Amino acid sequence: MCGIADRITDCIGLKYVSRAVKAASRQIHRRDPMEECVMIVEQFRKICCTSADVLNLLVNDLVSSMEAGLKTKDSKNSPKMLPSFVENLPNGSEKGSYFALDLGGTNFRILHVELGGRKAKVVKQEVEECSIPEKLKIATGRELFDFIAEKLSTFVRKTHGSTLSNHDWHHHQRKELQLGFTFSFPVDQKSIDGGSLLEWTKGFKCDGVIGENVVQLLEEALARNGLEMKVNVLINDTVGTLAAGRYLYDNTIIAIILGTGTNSAYIESSAALRLKLDESQLPKSTTTVINTEWSYFWSPYLPVTDIDMELLHESPLPGQQQYEKLISGMYLGEIVRRVLQKLQRQSGVFGKSVLSNLANPHSLDARTMSVMHEDESCGLQKVAKVLEENFDIVGTSLELRRLVQTVCDVVCQRAGRLAAVGIVAMLKKIGWDQASTTITIAVDGGLYEHYKKFRGYLFDAMRELLGEKVAENISIVLCKDGSGIGAALLAASHS
Ligand code: BGC
Repeated sequence: MCGIADRITDCIGLKYVSRAVKAASRQIHRRDPMEECVMIVEQFRKICCTSADVLNLLVNDLVSSMEAGLKTKDSKNSPKMLPSFVENLPNGSEKGSYFALDLGGTNFRILHVELGGRKAKVVKQEVEECSIPEKLKIATGRELFDFIAEKLSTFVRKTHGSTLSNHDWHHHQRKELQLGFTFSFPVDQKSIDGGSLLEWTKGFKCDGVIGENVVQLLEEALARNGLEMKVNVLINDTVGTLAAGRYLYDNTIIAIILGTGTNSAYIESSAALRLKLDESQLPKSTTTVINTEWSYFWSPYLPVTDIDMELLHESPLPGQQQYEKLISGMYLGEIVRRVLQKLQRQSGVFGKSVLSNLANPHSLDARTMSVMHEDESCGLQKVAKVLEENFDIVGTSLELRRLVQTVCDVVCQRAGRLAAVGIVAMLKKIGWDQASTTITIAVDGGLYEHYKKFRGYLFDAMRELLGEKVAENISIVLCKDGSGIGAALLAASHS
């Protein structure tokens, strides 16, 4: 059903199933812990299964939800379809020096690029990455923006101002420092250079920001740090990635983020927004980029287990962003942790001692999950190491380690296949799912970049849904840091 990788899992799973079936037929009332776990995992796997039929139903549902989102102002459990007011995507002729700030995931990045026009393209690029302390994600908005502004100010002085006198520095600032701001949360925009936050996602929860213009908050924080910059554009990370993709390949029409969160953007006719926006608010250009905010997609066809339902209600934005909570980097490790916790609760398979860390939300991240999943060592030594280092679980049998790996596989396979649903739905939405000309889809995000098996499942499912021939015409390109570089490029094309 689900490609080579799935057949391998089938083989691993079969041994356990036959064992469990034997046990049941012997009518043993008290199963041994391993048998109990095998049954639980098998049941979990069945519910997570995504046949091509289910995927096709989901594609159609997502397309209809996107169509509906284009027509409504307020949508809770469907894509928000937010206009970005991007008028010109970069075409390669951009020139000059631009800064970008990219905020929205585990880290934030500051960039400086020098664009040399058609022939030279990016002449110089400097990037600084800072991780955001967890406590800042739930601090006040002022604290968050002050932190960012201070880092940006240090970066600008280091890359740009060290040779200037104080007087020149101030003059220079006002004239030349232009910034593109990537803010990867749902924002209500009425123009390209500002917008108010609709709600925080991905675990951010800073007071005093929802409903506020985030560009103004940034500019005020910069002023407190003695830095004056012109924020030319405020964009979502998907929009930045689309711009970065377009700069490199002019047949780029869709961008996808598969990282801490997930989302997509594409080019739409401005007229399609007639029912969503008042006439006076419609973009001036004939086309505009739409940030779909597909993380909010919900469908009765989504294969969700009781564990996913618990996570849906116990995570940020309870009851919302079901799609993101099944496929993005912030949640995959957490789903696996919850399954392991269930195994322990129901069978004590990991030993008698109290495994406090296994009960800690988010104590297993997607990166660590991928280490276990992609462990090909004989004896699954990496799985053993993760269990020991993260949860103090020692002395696991190879059989148990294999079962843990199967859990990772089930969760990753479902995520990869559901991500493919999103991409195919985007292609269908713009009428490209049958096309014979080649197109490029730009992708950014750590989950896609670092998790090879996730990519494998995604590609398998795309071929399954589109057919080999159409799939061959689609080139999926990793645009590393595209979300940030795109902001600098758009700052240039809107200067
Ligand atoms: C946010 C989007 C963002 C995506 C990827 C989601 O949680 O709502 O705005 O693009 O994460 O970063």
